[in-house]
Amino acid sequence: MPRREELLKYLPLIEEELTAALDMCQASEPLLSAMRYSLLAGGKRLRPSLALGVCDMLGGKTEIALRLGCAIELIHTYSLIHDDLPCMDDDDMRRGRPSNHKVYGEAQALLAGDALLTYAFERMLSAAQIANEAYYRGVLEIAKRAFGMVAGQSMDLIAENDPEAGEEELNYIHRHKTADLLTASVLAGAYSASADEDTIKRLEAFSEKMGLLFQITDDILDREGDPALMGKTLGKDEKENKLTFVSLYGLEKAKTLAEGLQKECHAMLDGAFAKRAGYLHLVIDYIVERNN
Ligand code: IPE
Ligand code: IPE
Ligand code: MG
Ligand code: MG
Ligand code: MG
Repeated sequence: MPRREELLKYLPLIEEELTAALDMCQASEPLLSAMRYSLLAGGKRLRPSLALGVCDMLGGKTEIALRLGCAIELIHTYSLIHDDLPCMDDDDMRRGRPSNHKVYGEAQALLAGDALLTYAFERMLSAAQIANEAYYRGVLEIAKRAFGMVAGQSMDLIAENDPEAGEEELNYIHRHKTADLLTASVLAGAYSASADEDTIKRLEAFSEKMGLLFQITDDILDREGDPALMGKTLGKDEKENKLTFVSLYGLEKAKTLAEGLQKECHAMLDGAFAKRAGYLHLVIDYIVERNN
């Protein structure tokens, strides 16, 4: 299968599950429309794709990875709606269209985020027919990492106005605001296969690096990406005084650090999974080479 097709191979399954989840959601208007607006606005679906890719690598149960991975996509979408609010990054564009609050107003956007988060847990906890012990460990992991994402976002905002904030804070921000949900996605795939502790530990170490790589690339793309392809306003990090890999180290060093991480990620996969990790290798290169 060509690289691009291989990367996107889970999208039909994911879109079907997300659409079905929304169709089952009991909510009044305009809340439901606001949830749908952001969830079905495209998006790379990297988190559920990771869950399914790891599930396949380990011979897990697709329905578990799909349910957990799509719940993470709901949580991720809530994080984006809130991230764009005027009290946070104040961004007018997301996923190629006006941000949620630009269409539904700040209060409904805030609530659409709350609703997506809460509904994600309802979806995960109403799957008795597929749940086993590992499934609930996956749900707990997602809860912890969703909390971690919020802690990262909090530090991200605090660091904007803190001239003392440096490397330590930057690593905390990136590891939490971004790497946490990506790690949860990889581990959701591992739990779908009731993976052993050693495999969980290896995948955790790998995905924490991958998450850092993802956010460094996001920082680089904010500086030099193509706004039409990115679907969001760029140059905002500099304008808002964000603490990023580009602001702290400059563009060139950020790229060098990303290259180093990319190599480390490939090496970790080779060491732990040898030939089985084809999909994850593709994801790593895509994270660095992407233009959106
Ligand atoms: C954007 O995430 C927010 C960050 C963590 C940088 P993605 O780049 O995965 O956004 P979508 O889901 O494709 O819209
Ligand atoms: C956001 O990081 C991470 C989360 C939404 C949790 P950014 O603020 O850099 O993401 P973008 O650039 O707006 O997508
Ligand atoms: Mg932000
Ligand atoms: Mg932002
Ligand atoms: Mg960004």
